Amino acid sequence: MIETFRRQTLFAQACVADILKPGDSAVDGTVGTGEDTVFLAHCVGLKGKVYGFDIQKAALQEARENIQKKAVKTPIQLICDGHQHMDCYPEIADNPNIGAVMFNLGYWPDGDPFVTTQTETTLKALKQSAELIRPGGIVSVIAYAHSEGQDEKRQIDQWTAHLDHHYDTYCFDVKNHKGAPTVYLILKKESRH
Ligand SMILES: C[S@@+](CC[C@H](N)C(=O)[O-])C[C@H]1O[C@@H](n2cnc3c(N)ncnc32)[C@H](O)[C@@H]1O
Repeated sequence: MIETFRRQTLFAQACVADILKPGDSAVDGTVGTGEDTVFLAHCVGLKGKVYGFDIQKAALQEARENIQKKAVKTPIQLICDGHQHMDCYPEIADNPNIGAVMFNLGYWPDGDPFVTTQTETTLKALKQSAELIRPGGIVSVIAYAHSEGQDEKRQIDQWTAHLDHHYDTYCFDVKNHKGAPTVYLILKKESRH
């Protein structure tokens, strides 16, 4: 458990795995190499569906190869578009079964570090995700403190701190390591009374 806690990607995955059920739909907001896409596919199983967004064709190609190599059979739709447009896709916007949306912000490790997530579009995508998830669903976000990421992280901090009472929001920081990634979890409550 402590090793899972120490690695932010594993920690976010463990929290999402706790929520997702076979047959759910899920969204990977930042596909990159496709690690989270494959993970989500395993969680939702053959009857589920995974949608993955990335703005870089090359990243989606690498993810596609990764998915093939791992022989994933869950239906996966990879979409070359910004995650801030996810609510323009009716199969997502009108889908009542979205149990999780995952974001691992920043840049694709194999690509140009200047092609990175941006505060404004990230916030748009997070707000849409919070709306789109089913009651009991989760949005996970890993945010970084690199120069581009600092404002993004500050704004996510503000947004999560002020989300209304239909949600519970959590922030996991390494207290004695300022540069470590932060994990945010946004949980939609089961009942909307
Ligand atoms: C840190 S990487 C994601 C890592 C990925 N989860 C993995 O398992 O490899 C961040 C990704 O976000 C993508 N990205 C940047 N801005 C985006 C946007 N507006 N919409 C969707 N993806 C975006 C980048 O191209 C990059 O591939």
